[in-house]
Amino acid sequence: MLAISGKGPLRGEIRIPGDKSISHRGVMFGSLAEGTTEISGFLPGADCLSTIDCFRRMGISIDLSPDGHSVRVEGRGLHGLRAPGGEVSLYTGNSGTTTRILSGILAPQAFTSILTGDASIEKRPMKRIIDPLLAMGADIVSVRGNGCAPLKITGHPLTGIRYLSPVASAQVKSCVLCAGLYAREETILVEPALSRDHTERMLAAFGASVSSRRTSRGYEASVQPCERLEARKVRVPGDISSAAYFLAAAALVPGSEVLIRGTGINPTRAGILQAAGAMGADISLLNREDGAEPAADILVRHSSLKGTVIEGDIIPALIDELPVLALMAAFAEGTTIIRDAAELKVKETDRIAAVTEGLLAMGARVTPTDDGMVIEGGRPLHGALIHTYGDHRLAMSFAVAGLMADGETLLDDETCVSVSYPSFFSDLNALTR
Ligand code: S3P
Repeated sequence: MLAISGKGPLRGEIRIPGDKSISHRGVMFGSLAEGTTEISGFLPGADCLSTIDCFRRMGISIDLSPDGHSVRVEGRGLHGLRAPGGEVSLYTGNSGTTTRILSGILAPQAFTSILTGDASIEKRPMKRIIDPLLAMGADIVSVRGNGCAPLKITGHPLTGIRYLSPVASAQVKSCVLCAGLYAREETILVEPALSRDHTERMLAAFGASVSSRRTSRGYEASVQPCERLEARKVRVPGDISSAAYFLAAAALVPGSEVLIRGTGINPTRAGILQAAGAMGADISLLNREDGAEPAADILVRHSSLKGTVIEGDIIPALIDELPVLALMAAFAEGTTIIRDAAELKVKETDRIAAVTEGLLAMGARVTPTDDGMVIEGGRPLHGALIHTYGDHRLAMSFAVAGLMADGETLLDDETCVSVSYPSFFSDLNALTR
């Protein structure tokens, strides 16, 4: 339980921890590459540590610096993963990214894997990766027959496919592309809107033949059968999904001005900049750097916000930021409509239900819909007991709401922030002091 109450302006600079999605991929592709991959700016959050643990169990030597931000992965090549006795049990914790992408890597291996996770993971839909992997010839089953983990994957040679994904999901896309590295033919995945493209960028940098293009059916990503990946240096920018809480807090709390250093602004991730901009947030990008993953410093100053509509192709580019955008909307003048975001229901928890519940408890006017929310903003909110449902993004979003509400906001479980941002509360305190 943690109590949060209204604070003065946020002022100063912050360098937020490394991008979770990119950190996972650095460990995964580094493990499959030949040679030593050095990752800087790594996020030592619980999810990425789950990925490290899984690869260590398959014989990969991975060293973390004492602060957890530098990682050395001694890759053993595409066929170097090992399962003593022919079977390995892997625990993916709370991490959907680990569970789904790893399944694509495990499907073609010469051993059997059992993937389990925490209570949330064992409720999240895995049919979305089971279907394409089966089409590629994989032997993958949901052990309890409910389309969720535990998953049993018995390694099997794979064939390339052209798969029309019903969802715009980078986890599904990455799973299929990773399996495609091992397939006999080209593998193509088409998604209805463009999801984050970190896998395409990083696999290409490691030497795989990957391409992407827009077609009349949607966004296509393809990979050729791969003989080897080559180790390389991976520089992880700050996580824009973590920056989002400071962006929201600085935009909302009068008198605030915060400079968020070195944040990833990959266009497939940076939808919050557009959506918050449309709400009237005062955001400037400074010191842009165009590396494998573009980054910039984000300067945010308080301003008054107005409602907006968030829908369509931008949704995958801000899917993880919708909880914090919803609470910004609760303080904005006018109505905000979020639609085309049914995916929110199958995240770490049902984020449409949980955000609605929390905002209603604080006195906001919110109506949940099948694929989003309608928020009538501009009413003062009061502190309340908030159920985070063990979801890191809910805990951080409602911490920001607590800064703006009258009275005390209680988070029933704040420890879940360790999944993506272990030092979140101390970083927030440092800016509000
Ligand atoms: C992620 C993709 C997104 C996102 C998740 C991380 C990734 O999930 O919500 O936090 O690293 O590929 P989906 O691919 O299921 O949309």
